[in-house]
Amino acid sequence: MTSAPTHAKGLEGVIAGETEICNVEQSALIYRGYEIADLAENASFEEVAYLLLVGKKPTPEELKVFQSELVSERKIPELVQSFLKQSGDLVNNHAAVPMDILRTAVSMLGHLDAQCQDNSADANLHKSKRLLAKIPTIIGHMQNNIDGRDFVAPTEDLSHSANLLYMMTGEKPSPEAEKVMDVSLVLYAEHDYNASTFTSRVIAGTLSDMHGAVTGAIAALKGPLHGGANEAAMDMLAEIRKDIGPENDNAKILDWMHQAFEDKRKLMGFGHRVYKNGDHRAPILHALGRKAAEARGPEFVRLFELGEEVQRIMETEKNIYPNVDFPCGMTYFTMGIPVPQYTPIFVASRITGWCAHIMEQHANNRLIRPRAAYVGPETRNWNG
Ligand code: CMC
Repeated sequence: MTSAPTHAKGLEGVIAGETEICNVEQSALIYRGYEIADLAENASFEEVAYLLLVGKKPTPEELKVFQSELVSERKIPELVQSFLKQSGDLVNNHAAVPMDILRTAVSMLGHLDAQCQDNSADANLHKSKRLLAKIPTIIGHMQNNIDGRDFVAPTEDLSHSANLLYMMTGEKPSPEAEKVMDVSLVLYAEHDYNASTFTSRVIAGTLSDMHGAVTGAIAALKGPLHGGANEAAMDMLAEIRKDIGPENDNAKILDWMHQAFEDKRKLMGFGHRVYKNGDHRAPILHALGRKAAEARGPEFVRLFELGEEVQRIMETEKNIYPNVDFPCGMTYFTMGIPVPQYTPIFVASRITGWCAHIMEQHANNRLIRPRAAYVGPETRNWNG
């Protein structure tokens, strides 16, 4: 006799597989044995990318080779470039948002990658590096087209983070802006079986290809309950600002929040399935973003002060803490990045975690196929 099926809505608390890549606990967030605050303080994004993809901390020589491999893969094929020449029209006509454009462009990269159908460990690692190198170029060219300017070609002398910012604007970022971007990418790189990574593993588990698995993961990340929350958090702060006026009147902020509670609104950038007492990544990014705001001027400090008041009310009245997307919204805004590119930038980082998981899945595969508890009608006859 088989036992009755049990289920947890949203798979809460379910251990859906094993991984050597990351551990997400309330007590610590760990990438391959290294704690997130240690990585944010001491490792560059390229080092973290290598750690996740290859499985070990790179030696200085290994890092150099890895960086030059990435630089040499930054250009994107002509066909993808011509598609990206439509992005301004698609976005401005509200036919697509940047996450949709990025999803299609990544899928197209698969058609043009000679190793697309090869799921061997070696091919997968090469494809991971190509995806990691090319995604910032897709984001940059897309933003150039949206802004009505010629594509800014990728550089050979800038880090992954600085090159990403450079390609979006044509201006080399300051060392401070590069550092903030780099740390944000480190923080976003990996998070065990989150929705998009799980999606990528489900796709890879059918022995489908890496580009397909990443395309699905991008679609999963787009949603505001997941990666889309960094854009939604900033949109929410802009809505509060519009409603309360230019000054941070705490009584008005409280009224706004009480109305939101009454309306049972989900406040974007707050809450987490695993971290019920706070997200390790949020204070790290908040501190960096606030410093950037202080350097940029009072308008940006006022934004952070608004966010801090919203956070204080959420914590004291609801016991719900910000996740990394809340400070991310304010930080990227302070850096002058257009809001619809916040989640694509999340992709530019999480591609490392996804590819590591796809490789781990392919290396020790079993089809991921859970069951559902049937709650539909009892068996009945078609002819009555
Ligand atoms: N605003 C208001 N109430 C909330 C929020 C929120 N952001 N998050 C949780 N709650 C409440 C929720 O309404 C529920 O209350 P009750 O028990 O009275 O019904 C309680 O807290 C438990 O929440 P839940 O919905 O069961 O939590 P979940 O684990 O299903 O959802 C979540 C997690 C992240 C989807 C949710 O917290 C949420 O929608 N947050 C806003 C979107 C967001 O910031 N997402 C980013 C997630 S983390 C980083 C990333 O993936 O990018």
